[in-house]
Amino acid sequence: MKKYLFSISFLFLALNIISQTDLESFTRNNDARSTILEDLAPFYHGVASGDPTTEAVIIWTRVTIDNPADSIPVAWFMATDTSFSNIVQQGITHASNEKHYTVKVDVQNLDAGTTYYYAFQVDGINSIAGRTKTAANDADQLRFAVVSCSNYQHGFFNSYGRIAERNDLDAVIHLGDYIYEYGQDSTANRPVLLPEHEILELIDYRTRYSFYRMDEDLRNLHQQHPIICVWDDHEVANDSYFLGAENHNPMTEGNYIERKNKAKQAYFEWMPIRDNNTNSVYRAIEYGDLAEIIMIDTRHESRSQQVSSLDDSELGDSTRTLLGIAQKEWLLNTLDNSDSKWKIIGNQVIFTPLLEDELSAFSEAGALAIIADIWEGYPLERNSIIEHVNQNDIDNIIIMTGDIHNSFAMDIPNEPDSLAGYDPVTGANSAMVEVVTPSITSDNFGDILGIFANALVDIFEETHPHVKLIDVINHGYMVIDLNEDRAQSDWFYDPDRLTSNTTENFGQGWYTNDGTNHLQETDVPAEEKAIQEAPAPSVQPQIDLVGIESKELQNIGSLVFLSVFHNGYSQNCTLNFAVNEPQNIEILITDISGKVIAKKLNHLEAGLFSDQISLPNLGAGIYLVNIRGQYNSNTRKFMVK
Ligand SMILES: [Fe+2]
Repeated sequence: MKKYLFSISFLFLALNIISQTDLESFTRNNDARSTILEDLAPFYHGVASGDPTTEAVIIWTRVTIDNPADSIPVAWFMATDTSFSNIVQQGITHASNEKHYTVKVDVQNLDAGTTYYYAFQVDGINSIAGRTKTAANDADQLRFAVVSCSNYQHGFFNSYGRIAERNDLDAVIHLGDYIYEYGQDSTANRPVLLPEHEILELIDYRTRYSFYRMDEDLRNLHQQHPIICVWDDHEVANDSYFLGAENHNPMTEGNYIERKNKAKQAYFEWMPIRDNNTNSVYRAIEYGDLAEIIMIDTRHESRSQQVSSLDDSELGDSTRTLLGIAQKEWLLNTLDNSDSKWKIIGNQVIFTPLLEDELSAFSEAGALAIIADIWEGYPLERNSIIEHVNQNDIDNIIIMTGDIHNSFAMDIPNEPDSLAGYDPVTGANSAMVEVVTPSITSDNFGDILGIFANALVDIFEETHPHVKLIDVINHGYMVIDLNEDRAQSDWFYDPDRLTSNTTENFGQGWYTNDGTNHLQETDVPAEEKAIQEAPAPSVQPQIDLVGIESKELQNIGSLVFLSVFHNGYSQNCTLNFAVNEPQNIEILITDISGKVIAKKLNHLEAGLFSDQISLPNLGAGIYLVNIRGQYNSNTRKFMVK
């Protein structure tokens, strides 16, 4: 084991390096595949959908118009065809400043297992159409893409693009790390990120989501598929637990719970997840007799703090938890009472037990932070779940996991500490299986360790017979295909995250047969689905105007004002805008009578910008921000209390 320690130490040293740069006045982004598309106006962030039930689905968009009222009427339409000749539901909702002009509608009274196309309309202009699908209640086959960990700066979202091109999915399951909170690393593969600093405030989290949704591959994924999502740590801060996070310093970054609440608010504004009173994300989505998707939150709901040593006596404390009492009870009840054949748990961190000798070696080598953060750092709670599954003879549980950036497929033996009775050849005495999706782009062990990463593979192959697959080289996603007889996970890999490309490779497949609770390998991906749904077209549909006021859009041009944020008190405000061709840009802040408060003139290249403007002490009242380009001008307001 010692021979591996050098490389493992190196790995974890590298993992702990987080580079940050100082905030500059102007930042811009010219990366390919991440830009404002004028044709999408005023729905520059595209459309999205999620949380399907057998009769409802959430649809989402964001409205960006000049000088918006506090509340903007937005019409929406749901049709059964791409040309919207058969509209089955429609209505009017409102985009408001309170929710950063994001819009969500929970469309009801739909048919189960049905593909729909939806669009929005503001001021007589239609959004692009999105494609979505309600949950089936009597399907013979279901298929989901499973993803996690899309660090923008680490590479292109090619796998999101490949998933968008698929016409065979019921939904995309996102296991978190959809965004990362870190500040910009100007040496990274995609060197520009907005905002440039680590995100702490509400406007920062909102700006980060807005920036991500300018990525064409991610925008296309949302346009083409409903998503069922949970967060992991980076939607707030690295290695978070209920009361804090490794990457949060209360001395310099303020109260953690306040930061978490701002992060959750932005998540619920920007993700097509069904709203609830508590901003909790654990929930179950039923697909009839065939599957139940059980999404859990091991991060922000109730997690106890990670231990600081594997010798810590706290490790044996039965009250240490990832789920919390209420969520654990809900999870076990859901498993007990599920009428579905396949019980798919959408989980964040690795669940499968690792063996004690290896744990000590990892810990000695400095890997404690990773071991302490996964279920291994909460062994009694993990073991009690395995015991419950055993005692109640619950079959066909598949745990799907993200977070770790590498691919794994594992049997979960009945006896987690000793593997007693587990037969790696027949799979006897395996209680459940776990499949782990690699990152879309975030650095994996191979990226960090290079050839030394093979040492990790060797360790697992030599010592962990229940770990069937470990791939530390590839990025990509999984597809899980379900039918009456078997559940198969196929891994698809991006050949090069460092370039924008359109190919993918099949990696491997692992399946579990009905009632067997262990994994077997296959060389071929699950057979293509017989019925493939028509994709949503890339151009806006023709839908007649509905009875809401129509006026000429002011902001279609070479300058788009995305948002202004002032918290009501501070001596600065943040402006987010996009410039589509090089030009002089003047920013003018005035009071309501026209008196100039602040002024700034810059020649800017094309790109996305996030600019913080310093302000003098301002009296209470309304203030106007005007951004003027060569061809058009946009105005927003903010209020000082
Ligand atoms: Fe991650």
